[in-house]
Amino acid sequence: MHFQWYPGHMTKAKRMMQEDIKLIDVVIELVDARIPLSSKNPDIDQIAKNKSRIILLNKYDLASQQQTNAWKSWFEEKGFFVALVNSKSGTGVKNVHEVIQQACKEKIERDRKRGIMNRPVRAMVVGIPNVGKSTFINSFAGRACAKTGNKPGVTKGKQWIRLNKNVELLDTPGILWPKFEDQLVGLRLAFIGSIKEEILNMSELSLELIKFLHEHYKGMLANKYEIEESEDSLETLTNIAVKRGCKQKGDLPDIDKAASIVVDDFRNGRIGRVTLEFPIFEEKEETEEVDETIKEENN
Ligand code: G4P
Repeated sequence: MHFQWYPGHMTKAKRMMQEDIKLIDVVIELVDARIPLSSKNPDIDQIAKNKSRIILLNKYDLASQQQTNAWKSWFEEKGFFVALVNSKSGTGVKNVHEVIQQACKEKIERDRKRGIMNRPVRAMVVGIPNVGKSTFINSFAGRACAKTGNKPGVTKGKQWIRLNKNVELLDTPGILWPKFEDQLVGLRLAFIGSIKEEILNMSELSLELIKFLHEHYKGMLANKYEIEESEDSLETLTNIAVKRGCKQKGDLPDIDKAASIVVDDFRNGRIGRVTLEFPIFEEKEETEEVDETIKEENN
């Protein structure tokens, strides 16, 4: 499966963000907890240099708990402040206030020494499309105030949302585009639904997903669909089609229909909590051990 990307609006968005970032103290970067690295645009590290940095592992309700905790440690090791959030339900969102205070401790202390008291911290939310920026801002600000639509920089004057006496939030999130020279990154973004459907072949995508799940979360598909899982992904998909009564002319199993069901179930967390990429810690590479943990977690 091959992905193409259109970097058309990227330059403009990046320029806008470089302007906005001058105004802020802390960058709150949302990533998708299922693919914390593939949903992270590395350019932000350069753009947000010298700013306090927070990573929100959003949609953690859809990711493996154990792996999300591992990713939290991984980012913390790299110097980020980290929080787990489910912006949709609001779980973990309140905690972000505390994390902002921790991340800006030095700035607050510096201000205090200069006699500047009670100046609110200015924050900005950034992330790739569909990662949950608007949902998070709405939940964090407690009212429907986030602009929707991917139009960075439509407002000339900056609008700030006063969250409390300590924090002001730039009302327009910064939109980054995912980078994927690496096809695996493209595949992971496609799994979670962050790539336009029109450019995807659903059956191929579903077969790749089934292969991944069989390799790392063996038994999960068998459980969900009450079928035999096979080494051959097409056989598994056919089993799902039969079980679900997906038929085409001549009573043959409708593979395309079953493929859409599997991908849709996966994206909505109905197959189970799945993390699609695993952190590798510098000292010890524990991929095999990690796989064992995932198996246990899903049994
Ligand atoms: P964006 O501004 O970054 O582009 O993303 P947006 O907030 O529009 O969110 C994209 C989708 O992700 C929305 O679903 C939203 O409900 C969902 N979402 C955001 N945060 C979370 C989370 O923590 N957990 C889960 N499970 N979902 C989350 P949608 O399908 O576009 O709309 P709807 O389902 O809300 O109707």
